[in-house]
Amino acid sequence: MYSPQQTQTLQTQTKHFLSILNNDDATNEIEDLRNVLRFHEYRYYILNEPLISDFEYDQLYKLLEKIEQANPELVTKNSPTQRVGTSLNEGFETVQHLVPMLSLANSYNAEDLQDFDRKAKEASGLTNIEYCVEPKFDGASISLIYENDLLVRATTRGDGVAGDDITTNIKQIRSIPLSAPFSKYGIQQIEIRGEIIMTKGSFAKYNEWLTQQGLQPVANPRNTASGSLRIKDPKEVYRRNLDAFLYHISYYLASGKSQVVSRETPNIKHQTDNTLLATSHSPLATHSSQLELLWNCGFRSPQKENKVVKNIDDVIAYVQEFESKRDELPYEIDGMVVKVNSIELQDELGMTSHHPRWAIAYKFKARQATTKLIGVEFQVGRTGAVTPVAKLEPVYLGGVTVSSISIHNEEYIKEKDLKIGDAVLIERAGDVIPQIVKSLPDVRTGNEVDIDFPKQCPVCKSELFKEDGEAVWRCINIECEAQVVEKIIHFVSKDAMDIKSFGDANVRLFYSLNLIKDIPGIYTLNLDETGTLEGFGKKSLDNLKAAIKASKQQPLHRLMYGLGIRFVGETTAKTLANSVEHLLDFKNKSEEELQQLDDVGVKVAKSIHHFFSNEQNIKMIEHLEEIGLQLKNTKKEVVASGGLAGQTFLFTGTLAKLKRSDAEALAEAKGGIIVSGVSAKLNYLVVGEDAGSKLEKAKKINTIKVISEDDFLDLIK
Ligand code: IVH
Repeated sequence: MYSPQQTQTLQTQTKHFLSILNNDDATNEIEDLRNVLRFHEYRYYILNEPLISDFEYDQLYKLLEKIEQANPELVTKNSPTQRVGTSLNEGFETVQHLVPMLSLANSYNAEDLQDFDRKAKEASGLTNIEYCVEPKFDGASISLIYENDLLVRATTRGDGVAGDDITTNIKQIRSIPLSAPFSKYGIQQIEIRGEIIMTKGSFAKYNEWLTQQGLQPVANPRNTASGSLRIKDPKEVYRRNLDAFLYHISYYLASGKSQVVSRETPNIKHQTDNTLLATSHSPLATHSSQLELLWNCGFRSPQKENKVVKNIDDVIAYVQEFESKRDELPYEIDGMVVKVNSIELQDELGMTSHHPRWAIAYKFKARQATTKLIGVEFQVGRTGAVTPVAKLEPVYLGGVTVSSISIHNEEYIKEKDLKIGDAVLIERAGDVIPQIVKSLPDVRTGNEVDIDFPKQCPVCKSELFKEDGEAVWRCINIECEAQVVEKIIHFVSKDAMDIKSFGDANVRLFYSLNLIKDIPGIYTLNLDETGTLEGFGKKSLDNLKAAIKASKQQPLHRLMYGLGIRFVGETTAKTLANSVEHLLDFKNKSEEELQQLDDVGVKVAKSIHHFFSNEQNIKMIEHLEEIGLQLKNTKKEVVASGGLAGQTFLFTGTLAKLKRSDAEALAEAKGGIIVSGVSAKLNYLVVGEDAGSKLEKAKKINTIKVISEDDFLDLIK
């Protein structure tokens, strides 16, 4: 980034600015001063090799602040002072990713990697593939967009399709430059992806600070990093001293071009403009050279940590070597990422809807620890399943303290031979939930006690049942308090209706206060009449109200998932939502029809059918519609647009099946345009009963198609 000569010049300038701190006006040299500050930020945050003390840096920073305050017209967007942000009152804005943020497929051993290599060779027809191997950073993924060398937007991954705009928070991370010289490479706009992490050192310091303040320490660096992205106070983000590794370029726009070069299934149209890739010497031609480009633009890319290897055997050797050094790193990693090095070959291999075919994560082996099982609690879930949870003597394991672990069901307890008082071996594979590997019967003292599975629901005391062929005991009392509460918690959760600030604790609180008794109760809850609630200021109540209201517009698949139908996960919910026009269409679907859908087998179809055959459930859904929730599949309508795009519609007379406004909305959703009068520009006149003068007029213009309501319904199908 900086040549030795530039470094020298910047050092001389540093001395100069330090010498004129009090006695001179440096207004004319303001850009030099900014460059000096950027240079020292780079030395400190990227290279970890500061050349001046923190105190000296602060003095220079204050000097710049002083000059800018006196001359506001001289402030630039990428001035080092422009990282400071103000607290957010509202939530974060959701933004659509231009290129979906995909995940990675996983591998756990040498065979998995060989398999990956074999498939890539088969698909490409090559006999050998060069790879680039780098750490898999354990943090939170982000996307950054730079336009004309300026950072313009940073977003979280979100659900991969849309994320939150967290630009202000990201600016608090000093290893992310506010500007970067992409134009040097002929790039006008670029999106780069990476991971926000918290180093082990920053984690320790932050916990020390929390403890000093009398606050609860945080559990691990990863959750702290990812939790930081959505904090509304940028100063708090700054305090956490986060870091960022950037490891992927997902698209770029060449200067002077109007096309985006994207390598992934884009929301934008796929382009094949490879201007910048044209020569094999282009810095964009391989993954490793892209990492170098990012490094040269001032980012922390895994430039030193990556290795280009000539074949899969060398990949295997390198990942194993790296695993043994894992604990020596100053940050947590949970594996390695193996990427096909040639971008051209990456393009050829392409991707599935979930992950690229040119990359795979190699997950490190689980970390293990032994501890003591000191008790068992039985929890009732939203489907009535009673789950035993083992209480453990707290033990530190791979970055978190573990004190309880689900032990699933009665059979699992038998299989693992678990008793209260046992020493148990537990493990945590990467970011996965900890598990009990086994008990250690050899060290039993004789004081261990069998785990008795209850015969009655621990919450409502009704008798538990177990279906044939199932391992789970269930409480079948649908009014069981535990189930109702868990159903509401599921409904408001992030992956379902995502009602922000309505966490588990609030649901339990409102339920216990009799303020909410069921799902529709969320929307009929009158927060103005609840009086003062402990822990709720006006602002948090307002936020909650706004979040509840906003959730009414959530797309159908989220509602479908939120209903908590057994076996219907997020993916199935999407498939299901996409198969209907309206949620209540499921009332008329047979199990056989449902089984025609992807991911829907006999068991799932039965469960859906069962759910929609239940009168109470239908009533609840109708109630939700009355309240104003989105029960129509708007997405499907948009997807299907094309056909009626640009066609004009006019409705006249009384429609028998549809409300006029709904009919108009349907036409619009398909790309149609509603017009107000009959003219030669009208394509369709839809006539209901008692149509009058408009029909007469339309009959005289032969280009107008006069259709009935049923014709219209056929047309939009
Ligand atoms: S490449 C299409 N490289 O791991 C490109 N991901 O488990 C996909 N991650 O969502 C990402 N270190 O958040 C890539 N060196 C690395 C990574 C990395 C960490 C994360 C990333 C991804 C997740 C998948």
